[in-house]
Amino acid sequence: MGKQGVESRSWVGVTTATTIVVFLLPLLYAIVFFSNNTPLDFWKQVPYLGSECSCEARAGATEGSISNGGNDEKDDSSLTSRLGKLLRGNDQRQLETIGFGCKSDHMNDVCVSNQRVWMKTDNGNLSVYFNSKNVQPPQLQHQISLKVRPYVNKKNDEYTKEDVKEITIQTPMEHQSYNYTCDVTHDIPAVIFSTGLNGNIFHEFNEMILPLFLTCRHFRSQLQFVINDFNEHWVHKYRSILSHLSDYEFINASEDNRIHCFPGFVIGLHFHNENLVCSNSDLPVNCSMLDFRQFLRETFHLEIKNVSQLLYNNTKPELVLLSRRRSRMILNEAEIVTVASELGFSVVIADPELTSNMNNFSVVVNRCSVLVGAHGAGLTNELFIPDGAVVVQVVPLGIQWASTNYFGKPSKEMGVQYLEYQISPQESTLLDVYGPNHPIITDPDSIHRQGFNVVRPIYIEGQNITLNISNFKDTLVQALKLLGR
Ligand SMILES: *[C@@H]1O[C@H](CO)[C@@H](O)[C@H](O)[C@H]1NC(C)=O
Ligand SMILES: *[C@@H]1O[C@H](CO)[C@@H](O)[C@H](O)[C@H]1NC(C)=O
Ligand SMILES: *[C@@H]1O[C@H](CO)[C@@H](O)[C@H](O)[C@H]1NC(C)=O
Ligand SMILES: *[C@@H]1O[C@H](CO)[C@@H](O)[C@H](O)[C@H]1NC(C)=O
Ligand SMILES: *[C@@H]1O[C@H](CO)[C@@H](O)[C@H](O)[C@H]1NC(C)=O
Ligand SMILES: *[C@@H]1O[C@H](CO)[C@@H](O)[C@H](O)[C@H]1NC(C)=O
Ligand SMILES: *[C@@H]1O[C@H](CO)[C@@H](O)[C@H](O)[C@H]1NC(C)=O
Ligand SMILES: *[C@@H]1O[C@H](CO)[C@@H](O)[C@H](O)[C@H]1NC(C)=O
Ligand SMILES: *[C@@H]1O[C@H](CO)[C@@H](O)[C@H](O)[C@H]1NC(C)=O
Repeated sequence: MGKQGVESRSWVGVTTATTIVVFLLPLLYAIVFFSNNTPLDFWKQVPYLGSECSCEARAGATEGSISNGGNDEKDDSSLTSRLGKLLRGNDQRQLETIGFGCKSDHMNDVCVSNQRVWMKTDNGNLSVYFNSKNVQPPQLQHQISLKVRPYVNKKNDEYTKEDVKEITIQTPMEHQSYNYTCDVTHDIPAVIFSTGLNGNIFHEFNEMILPLFLTCRHFRSQLQFVINDFNEHWVHKYRSILSHLSDYEFINASEDNRIHCFPGFVIGLHFHNENLVCSNSDLPVNCSMLDFRQFLRETFHLEIKNVSQLLYNNTKPELVLLSRRRSRMILNEAEIVTVASELGFSVVIADPELTSNMNNFSVVVNRCSVLVGAHGAGLTNELFIPDGAVVVQVVPLGIQWASTNYFGKPSKEMGVQYLEYQISPQESTLLDVYGPNHPIITDPDSIHRQGFNVVRPIYIEGQNITLNISNFKDTLVQALKLLGR
């Protein structure tokens, strides 16, 4: 039962009513898919790619006929190979043979075409059209009609539906072909993604920026971003990242009603899987947090790669203290500043005004040796600290798992050092509210078993912190040791 539930949500990022239809003429072989099939199963069921044929041989045979296939587009082998790198195995062979393929799993979908495509927005809905590649014999032509929701964390489908619109991918009905007139012709492929769902900086990096990097960097800026569900704030915030990944001004698909033509497209982004860790071994592209950090240093002009560049100068090591205001606030910040200064740190309090501008704040963080913060999205800034610098996460009551998994584990892949300071009940305001014998204090696991909706108002939003200075000082001393001081 539970498994069914998961699987039905695992479908293509597509609503239940969505179908994919494939015709293999003249057999008129049609497969209609409903919500419990994954596209992977889908491709396996296409006989052409099954045991009845040698796909490599066929792909080879059609290769020669592409360049004079009717269109006057140039045979851009580097473009084709860049698009091809986004898929592998059967998905890649599918792309080679019919000019279209998708990598899909329970989290995510990425669809790629290397054919001439037309893109247009009708009343706010984006569609792309292309003629699938001419394969011989002609009865093997495929008809494709599907909808993709280009958001990487499909597990959250119910939640994303409102904000992330489906995109239609369509080939013409049998015996026909598309021939739209282009308003704008591009000679680089479109990378189409959504900014409809965004949240805090953690989710923005985890589910949008890192996926953009994974999917796009090998195009060497030769791509056209098409942004669906346009979000002005998001685009403003991450503009420097967009312009580092693409030499071309993005298209605002929510507003642009022209017909755009491209020599190929990518719809959706590759996902490393959750929590800023490259844990998706199935990815056709390389995923390295070290590469990603290098990319961020280039994007934000960050000069310090390794903390040793800071420490060999006779300057005080800098400690950046992330200052939260509404929940999980460290109430005795001033005392932390005092003790850190006594230990020889120069302390920067990062209040929301300072952190809000990423171009500015990334530079501040990049010059620190120690980044301190209570569990929260702000710790995503660990992406900007130098290799070998230390992150100190203050773990509030009842938030151990998320702390370790969202920021602790990723730090290892990032090449930074990590310390956790688990607070005691005496350091949480929850103790004052509930008293020492309440299960909220004595048995957080029992609260977690009641679900996130119970956990959230208590542990996530319902506590502030007064650090025990003498204990916390020990952690700072440990941080200095890790820095070799
Ligand atoms: C856009 O697509 C959605 C979902 O596919 C559909 O419900 C809606 O009617 C479409 N809007 C227009 C204006 O076509
Ligand atoms: C496509 O349309 C253009 C003008 O609209 C026409 O000149 C051309 O011949 C058409 N091509 C095909 C293959 O039908
Ligand atoms: C993009 O389109 C949206 C929706 O029409 C609009 O609100 C927004 O101002 C546009 N932004 C830009 C930069 O074109
Ligand atoms: C992936 O990494 C391997 C080994 O480091 C490298 O040879 C290859 O070029 C990389 N591929 C891409 C697409 O960057
Ligand atoms: C550290 O000192 C070296 C040599 O004096 C200098 O080149 C470098 O810029 C300094 N680094 C920083 C981060 O100040
Ligand atoms: C960012 O830093 C620049 C240069 O120091 C400054 O002029 C600007 O006001 C800062 N922007 C914000 C939003 O803090
Ligand atoms: C940083 O530099 C030091 C000294 O050069 C080196 O020993 C260390 O391995 C570097 N750390 C990382 C994570 O690259
Ligand atoms: C935490 O402290 C801030 C500032 O005093 C206050 O506004 C907020 O309500 C407190 N939150 C909790 C959960 O105690
Ligand atoms: C801080 O922790 C130490 C050791 O756990 C304890 O002895 C001390 O009383 C605590 N200080 C405060 C102010 O609670």
